[in-house]
Amino acid sequence: MKNIVLCGFMGCGKTTVGENLSRKLGVKLIDTDAYIEQKENKRISEIFAEHGEAYFRDLEHEACVELAHRKGVVIATGGGALTFERNVQAFKNNCIIVLLDVPLDVVADRLKTDTSRPLLQREDKYEAMKQLYDSRMPLYKKAADIVIDGDNSPLQVAMNIIKEVNI
Ligand code: S3P
Repeated sequence: MKNIVLCGFMGCGKTTVGENLSRKLGVKLIDTDAYIEQKENKRISEIFAEHGEAYFRDLEHEACVELAHRKGVVIATGGGALTFERNVQAFKNNCIIVLLDVPLDVVADRLKTDTSRPLLQREDKYEAMKQLYDSRMPLYKKAADIVIDGDNSPLQVAMNIIKEVNI
């Protein structure tokens, strides 16, 4: 089995869908953010605060390159990862990239009380989210091999991925 890489906006359910998918397939789930946090022994928010976003993006790229070499795993990426061509290229050969497509208002509602995502800790949270969402969606769609409606229960989304990917 090729690796399955889940991509999409913050709050689209990559981690929860990934948990369901890995359980159903009986394979390991690796979350790029958790992988980076473990390697660096720091929270993502601390990495952003101490070193800035560009530094985080380099760590994220390193994580994508390393994880792309695994065999038969589910990889849940951070919401920015697949907006960078170098990360798309890292995953292209050995992985199927699946976009979890969730409308802006649904993710905005899920994220309204979130304090863990550095890019959203702003007064104009909804506007910032909308701007990012609008600019990223075309990039996710370009990167994805498969687009799945993510506005369903995580288990349903996982089952739909299994059906689409045909595994
Ligand atoms: C980010 C999304 C986060 C995390 C970091 C940056 C982004 O992951 O990687 O805060 O740029 O969208 P989730 O999509 O899991 O929230």
